Amino acid sequence: MPLPPPVSLDVRSGAPNDYWRARVEQHFHDTYAGVQMTKFPEDLRTYEHLLWESAANVVIEFGSYGGGSVLWFRDRLDAMVRHGRIRDPLVISVDIDAAATRANVRDQRGVEILEADLLDPALPAQIRTLLPGDARPFIVEDSAHEYDTTRAALTGFADLVAVGGFFVVEDGCVDIEPLRLDPSWPRGVLPALRDWLDTPQGRRFAVRRDLEIYGLSCHPGGFLQRVA
Ligand SMILES: C[S@@+](CC[C@H](N)C(=O)[O-])C[C@H]1O[C@@H](n2cnc3c(N)ncnc32)[C@H](O)[C@@H]1O
Repeated sequence: MPLPPPVSLDVRSGAPNDYWRARVEQHFHDTYAGVQMTKFPEDLRTYEHLLWESAANVVIEFGSYGGGSVLWFRDRLDAMVRHGRIRDPLVISVDIDAAATRANVRDQRGVEILEADLLDPALPAQIRTLLPGDARPFIVEDSAHEYDTTRAALTGFADLVAVGGFFVVEDGCVDIEPLRLDPSWPRGVLPALRDWLDTPQGRRFAVRRDLEIYGLSCHPGGFLQRVA
């Protein structure tokens, strides 16, 4: 598996949008353990902090794609077990088409791959049956990046997050005009998030913009911490 191409622009000399474009194009070529994973290293490093700080032992991911992020989350939880931070690690990854993930994730220890539609109202109950008794879920919504899927993830699953835990709504960049690089990109992540935050369920979460700590994130406004 080749390495992703180097980003040739220096953030200090290139126009910001050129740097953003180069980084986005690069991340489509990135991999983990030889499997495609489309996340910025800055966001992954932030995830390591949040997993550790919240002592999350379960990751629920919507949008598995190639499966690289499934492996990455599983390996992070395994490391936390070795450091004595958590027990009973589990990654639950959901995709409407799980064929590629099932093929690429050959070692499925500690992983549940579900082929399901996030919009299916039966999904929250199905996922609850998979959780260990002491589950402290960290939830990542990385599916269609549209209004309905974003809202379904938040409404259906935010209650699983313990107070102090995190729910990340990925790729709100699709709704920020200067960051939109292609008219084919979906829209609706940030409007769905804004509307949901204004509900009784949403008011139990704080938007942690201070967690965009490495200067560049695909998820502006998407790091949510349960506070009540
Ligand atoms: C951006 S990719 C996920 C990338 C992956 N998490 C990673 O970091 O490499 C989005 C995935 O969401 C899936 N998806 C789209 N709509 C969905 C839905 N309604 N329910 C479940 N999965 C969906 C797509 O099939 C696609 O594989």
